[in-house]
Amino acid sequence: MSPPGYTVGVYDSGVGGLSVLRALLVAIPEAHFVYVADQAYAPYGERGAAAVTERAHRITAGLRRDYPLDALVVACNTATAQAIDHLRQTHHDLPIVGVEPALKPAAALTATGHIGVLATRGTVESARFHQLQQRLQKGDGSGPHFHSQACDGLAQAIERDDTALIQTLCERYVHAVQATVPSPQQIDTWVLGCTHYLFAADILRPLCGGQAHLIETGTPVARRTREVLLALRPSPAHAHASLTLLSTADPTMLARLAHRWLGVPEQAQLWQA
Ligand code: DGL
Repeated sequence: MSPPGYTVGVYDSGVGGLSVLRALLVAIPEAHFVYVADQAYAPYGERGAAAVTERAHRITAGLRRDYPLDALVVACNTATAQAIDHLRQTHHDLPIVGVEPALKPAAALTATGHIGVLATRGTVESARFHQLQQRLQKGDGSGPHFHSQACDGLAQAIERDDTALIQTLCERYVHAVQATVPSPQQIDTWVLGCTHYLFAADILRPLCGGQAHLIETGTPVARRTREVLLALRPSPAHAHASLTLLSTADPTMLARLAHRWLGVPEQAQLWQA
C-alpha cells in the first residue's frame, strides 16, 4: 500500500507567501497544501514581535486542529524572524521550515560587495537578522556591505493590489538604498527580504538596474521542505497536489491574486484560527 500523501501548512500575514507556495507546488506535486493568509492581522511588519508570535501560535494550533499536518512552512520573513524559535519550542513534534532574507546567496553573487536588502521593519530590526548579517561580515571589514531598508507600507500596498502606491514606495525605498553609496550601480545585488516583494519584481527590476541580481527565497525553501517531508516517510506514488486557500478576513483578494499569480481556481474560504 502506498504511504499517505503529505499535508503541509503554509502561512503568511497575507498574499506574500503565495510566492513561496508557487515554488512548493512545483517542488512537491504530491502534497495537499493548506495556505493561510492571516489578513485580519496584516501587515505583520509593523505590528511588533509579541503580536506576531501570538498569531504564529494561534494559526499553528488552528491548522493542527483542522488538518493532519506533516510540516509547516512559515512563508513570512517577519514571522520567521520574530516567532519561529517559540513555535519550534511549543511544536517540537512538527517540522517547521522558515524563510530568511537570502543574505548568503547575495554575498556569493555580488561583484561590488554592496547588497541592498528590502524587508519589513520587523525583519530589519530583529535580532535574528542582525545575527545573520554578522555571520557574513569579516573581522577585517572586507566582507559584504548590507544596505538594509525597512519598507513600511509596501506589503500592505501589494495586499491591496494598489499599483500606483507600489510604484511610489518602490521608488522611495530603492532610491534610499542607492543614496547610501556614491553611484547607484554600486548596489549590484538586491535581496527581497519579504515574501510579498516578489510580486513587485516588475516594478523593482528597472529601479534596481537591469543588470542587478534580485534574489528571493521561494525555491530553496521549497527544496528544503521536500527534504524534510522525505525524511518523514517516502513519497506516495499516486497522490496529487491539491490546495486549500484560507483567509482570516475577507477571502476575495486572496482568491483573486492566487488565481492571477498561481493560475489556480479562484476559490478561498474564511477560516478562524
Ligand atoms: N510577507 C511577510 C514577510 O515576508 C510580511 C509582510 C507584512 O505583513 O508586513 O515579511
